[in-house]
Amino acid sequence: MGRFITLILYHQPHRVTPLLLALAAVELSFALPENHLDDQVNAAIDAGTFRNPSAKVRARFRYWSEDASDDLAAVAADVKATAEVGGGGLEHLGYYNYRALEEFTGTYAPTDWTVYGWGIGAWQAQLKAVAQAHADNGLIIDFAMGPNQGQGVPAMQGSEGLAWDLFPYNVSLQLGQSFSGPIPRLDRWGLESLQAVVSGVVTDVHNVIVPTSTVLASTASTELNGTGVYPALPGDNGAVNRTQVTLSDASLQDLTSQVAKTKGNLKFTCPKNAKGVECNVFFFYLIHSDCRAQASPLDLSGPQSVPQSYIQNGSWAVDHFSALEAKTTTDFWEQHVLTNGTMELLMAVGNYAWEDSIEIYTNVYWTKNLPAAFVAEHGYSLTKQTLGHLYNIYLDSMTKWANDYLNVQSSAQPAYSLPMDMLNAIPHLNAPECESLGFKAPDQYHQFTGPANLAGKRVISKECGAVFGAAYQQTVPALM
Ligand SMILES: *[C@@H]1O[C@H](CO)[C@@H](O)[C@H](O)[C@H]1NC(C)=O
Ligand SMILES: *[C@@H]1O[C@H](CO)[C@@H](O)[C@H](O)[C@H]1NC(C)=O
Ligand SMILES: *[C@@H]1O[C@H](CO)[C@@H](O)[C@H](O)[C@H]1NC(C)=O
Ligand SMILES: *[C@@H]1O[C@H](CO)[C@@H](O)[C@H](O)[C@H]1NC(C)=O
Ligand SMILES: *[C@@H]1O[C@H](CO)[C@@H](O)[C@H](O)[C@H]1NC(C)=O
Repeated sequence: MGRFITLILYHQPHRVTPLLLALAAVELSFALPENHLDDQVNAAIDAGTFRNPSAKVRARFRYWSEDASDDLAAVAADVKATAEVGGGGLEHLGYYNYRALEEFTGTYAPTDWTVYGWGIGAWQAQLKAVAQAHADNGLIIDFAMGPNQGQGVPAMQGSEGLAWDLFPYNVSLQLGQSFSGPIPRLDRWGLESLQAVVSGVVTDVHNVIVPTSTVLASTASTELNGTGVYPALPGDNGAVNRTQVTLSDASLQDLTSQVAKTKGNLKFTCPKNAKGVECNVFFFYLIHSDCRAQASPLDLSGPQSVPQSYIQNGSWAVDHFSALEAKTTTDFWEQHVLTNGTMELLMAVGNYAWEDSIEIYTNVYWTKNLPAAFVAEHGYSLTKQTLGHLYNIYLDSMTKWANDYLNVQSSAQPAYSLPMDMLNAIPHLNAPECESLGFKAPDQYHQFTGPANLAGKRVISKECGAVFGAAYQQTVPALM
């Protein structure tokens, strides 16, 4: 069965030759006890010898299991094969059609995901078998915290710890035109979900066309024939052809408290003499993003049964901006995955509790307590930095759980895919990980390794060997 294997190579941030490094490591391993939770450069880990390095310092392989139906003997044989080629172990991750229902794959799954879904009995048995095979072969295992990219777990739809989003709506008013009455979509989302009502004067409206290649090459900004710089926006996947509306910053008016006082009614007139072409009134409601980390069997074709409980019903991405949401994931692990001896095995051979790049699709990245958290911290209105700080709280919670509860380290591709301050998030993990798919130039790696080295991290992990749209086509010289 088609499995993708990606090599994870580890970079030791010493500026010494490999031979000197190995000699230093030999001395350390004889002189001091093993301490694998220490993520610092001079940690006294057991590195083995130069001729026979320990599993902790060997390269490891990304291992995408199809789903929980994989044959356990075949999986164990793959682990053994990893040991035979000199690997240190696997980074174990459930593929699950790579978020079936998104644009990447179809909606067909060849096995019944009420039985073989992530996190239920068969998955727990696979993780246990993989961990057991690591123990049998003297290897160590990294394990994803959820399906696909490790972003979520099974949960009741709409429960508090799942990823949030904003539902945006707007109304255009001509100069001099009035709006009077209940605000749009109030009946759908309710006043308690209302985050903001803001009006503004539109100064310019025009069409923007950005070709696909430019959008993929840069999510930062795109220059169009010297006619201006248009930022690529969230959701600009592929060719862009959109109407871009410019608002006057000075004209923005916060109407939220007025609407709250009148129980959802708004009275607003677009000034006749406003310096612009029209007015826009924006309405934002707090909703769950309902982003799937693994599809529900209900949404798949193939031999699917009807889920009897949320545990059989696929996984939802969790909110990545609070400690409560990290707990949604770790509670699920404690109750449903770390059972029947799996916890003891992972405590013996587990290396990283790990998360891949963050691939949560939403209108906007948000969390319930964002406005309150910002005001409490800064005493003034909200900016984008706050999300980054709340993400660090999420990472700290995951790291603490991995260290204290399970005696393993934490690892993730921090902030990767999100418009956040990656450099700030890097120190919050035991082993920060980057990826060759997204990092090309040496300067990009310098950006990543800088904060990791400043934080003294012993291991900077890198997922390498992936090529966009070309499975099994990379050559070894290209990889090198
Ligand atoms: C929302 O704003 C856009 C851009 O100005 C406009 O084209 C659209 O008609 C507005 N929506 C409504 C319902 O007025
Ligand atoms: C402007 O950009 C478009 C899209 O890349 C391209 O097709 C067109 O040739 C460019 N025009 C000029 C004058 O460079
Ligand atoms: C962009 O969209 C507009 C409106 O749908 C359409 O008229 C125009 O042909 C599109 N342009 C391109 C280059 O696709
Ligand atoms: C499964 O999730 C779907 C939404 O994807 C929901 O409509 C359905 O009620 C859920 N079933 C159970 C048993 O939780
Ligand atoms: C517990 O694990 C063993 C194999 O390690 C397996 O034979 C047994 O069926 C499992 N029990 C449950 C309840 O999953």
